[in-house]
Amino acid sequence: MSEEQTKIVIAIDGPAASGKGSLAKKLATKLGYDFLDTGALYRRVALNILDAGGNVENQETSTKAALDFNENLDVKDLEDVRLRNDEVGSAASKVAQVPGVRQALIDFQRSFAQKCETGAVLDGRDIGTVICPNAQIKLFVTASVEKRAERRHKELQSRGINATYGNVLAEMQERDERDAVRLDPHLAPDHKVDVIDTSDMTPNEVMDEALKIIHSRI
Ligand code: CDP
Ligand code: CDP
Repeated sequence: MSEEQTKIVIAIDGPAASGKGSLAKKLATKLGYDFLDTGALYRRVALNILDAGGNVENQETSTKAALDFNENLDVKDLEDVRLRNDEVGSAASKVAQVPGVRQALIDFQRSFAQKCETGAVLDGRDIGTVICPNAQIKLFVTASVEKRAERRHKELQSRGINATYGNVLAEMQERDERDAVRLDPHLAPDHKVDVIDTSDMTPNEVMDEALKIIHSRI
């Protein structure tokens, strides 16, 4: 087996607050793989526009911001706590609709997966379909929109941010609609996607299920 073939790529896609990010991080730690939260790239582009007083709905502004960010990419820029704010998540889903933005971020994501030593875990919306279509493991992590809104609402409350459950649910539904095209696991070229519905699962149960799938596939 060549060195190339021994590298494992785990692609994890799914809607907001489905639990894909925490699962991806835990899997990477457990398996000793590199980890990339690709949503943070879109969030960073959106935050750069907002910081500069720009309009995230303007395609030219968004594409230029993504190209600038791509050229000067520093992974430290992905640690800004403001990236986690819901307004930034919402703005990220707007810039993510712009083809020029997606194109600008493709190379960084693909080379991250290729450059890993033993393996990489990437989470996002189009990892198994567009970024790493040859990933050995493709997980689609999902949950009901009500459950996801409940989780996000709890997260905001614990950070002292005031928001009603109703508003969080409405924002989540709006974001799902904007992200819909990329939220179809059947678009994966080989359809080898394992779906995990986390609605009634604890994070530990999700991790166990994911490990079971991974061991059965490799
Ligand atoms: O953590 P959460 O699922 O709330 O959001 P995220 O993964 O940080 O992504 C923020 C937004 O970026 C999403 O709503 C998507 O519109 C976009 N995104 C994308 O289009 N493709 C990706 N691979 C990752 C994120
Ligand atoms: O990355 P994504 O937006 O898909 O979700 P996350 O950040 O991993 O999880 C969103 C929230 O849901 C976090 O507070 C998790 O602890 C929680 N969660 C949960 O309560 N039960 C699960 N089975 C998975 C996540």
